Amino acid sequence: MKKPWAGRFTEKTSKLVEKYTESISFDKRLWKYDIEGSIAHAGMLSKQGIIPKKDAGKIIKGLKEIYKEIEEGRFTFSEELEDIHMNIESALIAKIGEAGGRLHTARSRNDQVALDLRLYLRAEVREILALLKDLEAVLVDLAEKNLDVIMPGYTHMQRAQPVLLSHHLMAYAHMFERDRTRFQDALKRINVLPLGSCALAGTSLPIDRHYVAGLLGFDAVSENSIDSVSDRDFAVEFLSCSAMLMVHFSRMAEELILWSSEEFSFIELSDAFTTGSSIMPQKKNPDVAELMRGKTGRVYGNLMSLLTVMKGLPLAYNRDMQEDKESVFDTVDTVKTTLGVLTGMLQNMTLKRKKMEAGGDAAFSTATDIAEYLVRKKIPFRTAHEITGKIVRYCVDNGKRLSDLSITEYQAFSAAIGHDIYRFIGIPESVKAKESYGGTSPKKVRDQIRRFRNDLKGI
Ligand code: ARG
Repeated sequence: MKKPWAGRFTEKTSKLVEKYTESISFDKRLWKYDIEGSIAHAGMLSKQGIIPKKDAGKIIKGLKEIYKEIEEGRFTFSEELEDIHMNIESALIAKIGEAGGRLHTARSRNDQVALDLRLYLRAEVREILALLKDLEAVLVDLAEKNLDVIMPGYTHMQRAQPVLLSHHLMAYAHMFERDRTRFQDALKRINVLPLGSCALAGTSLPIDRHYVAGLLGFDAVSENSIDSVSDRDFAVEFLSCSAMLMVHFSRMAEELILWSSEEFSFIELSDAFTTGSSIMPQKKNPDVAELMRGKTGRVYGNLMSLLTVMKGLPLAYNRDMQEDKESVFDTVDTVKTTLGVLTGMLQNMTLKRKKMEAGGDAAFSTATDIAEYLVRKKIPFRTAHEITGKIVRYCVDNGKRLSDLSITEYQAFSAAIGHDIYRFIGIPESVKAKESYGGTSPKKVRDQIRRFRNDLKGI
């Protein structure tokens, strides 16, 4: 097969080189966007009188046929033709003859590949945004439905203070909300038209880039042709947003794994979202959550990979940049499938509220409430902390809980303690009292959920 760039060559390309340089095996994924971009480009060339209207008509018709052929699996991709751009252009020329040779006017593969990747990422990011919104909605639903469930809150993986399960769940909703807004922001820099920058210098032909931007729904036209063909910031940014999202996935996965263990038993994952063991018949394993945690590694790797490819590259386009695609594709796949699986897993899990509530009661988790009680009695917090510490010590030594102590026992530690102390050491009372903005009281969590739901409705 003749390569479109074969003019100045006398020898055939080595097979090894063909194998080494080809990208068609993975960039065929861009076919839709390559055709969409070419149709817009041909329309512009014709409007500007750069190519005959008749030929533009043939080009567009031919491209639409190729679209159908690829869609229906009737198109043969060829490694000899390197990449998706040359595969489609050669098929067009084979189909319509000379007119097809006019499509690549005022265009280079350098701006073409940047265009395709931007169109692809724009579509994928929009899908990711919708999936993130679904996940947030599931978390908000769960939080709203279980507003009365109290669980132990942890720091250092030790029981710390009782909190509402809803508050804990909403913490993840906030992480995913930040992820969504980060992707949304990245979209602004993805949605810029690079086409018409040509190889690197622009063109002497009278093209209309703003017209093409309008046809393809771009918000802006890139301003510097050199930057346009050498920029992959938008792809790095996408990978970075994805890496951050994976941090959140993996933290949630870790908690789902812990919570479904026999030791915690806060939740039971549904059969549909767990797997069995090939040797131990009794096992139901959280493999899905483990993979979610494990797949974080490849997404970080993808980010590091592209950052490293781009590091130290001179302007403008360099073939190194072909290495951007697999990192991006793999990340898109990983993020989208993980979003789907996590949303399903949350929707189908069973909460074991009794276990959660029992966990809240045990380990002096309202000790801070005693300290804050003493602060309200005008005792400096450090002193209050010391007094409460001694009360806890006394309980530990005597095998008692805070609620078991008599008023005389309490007053032995501080004369400031009155009979009202018992209103502050109960678990529900402790949670209800956390009325500070962003705190875990049912009222504040309800406000939080309302605000969150309203914002979700608005998008
Ligand atoms: N397959 C190439 C890539 O993915 C397209 C651009 C090639 N440009 C070139 N001048 N060789 O980056």
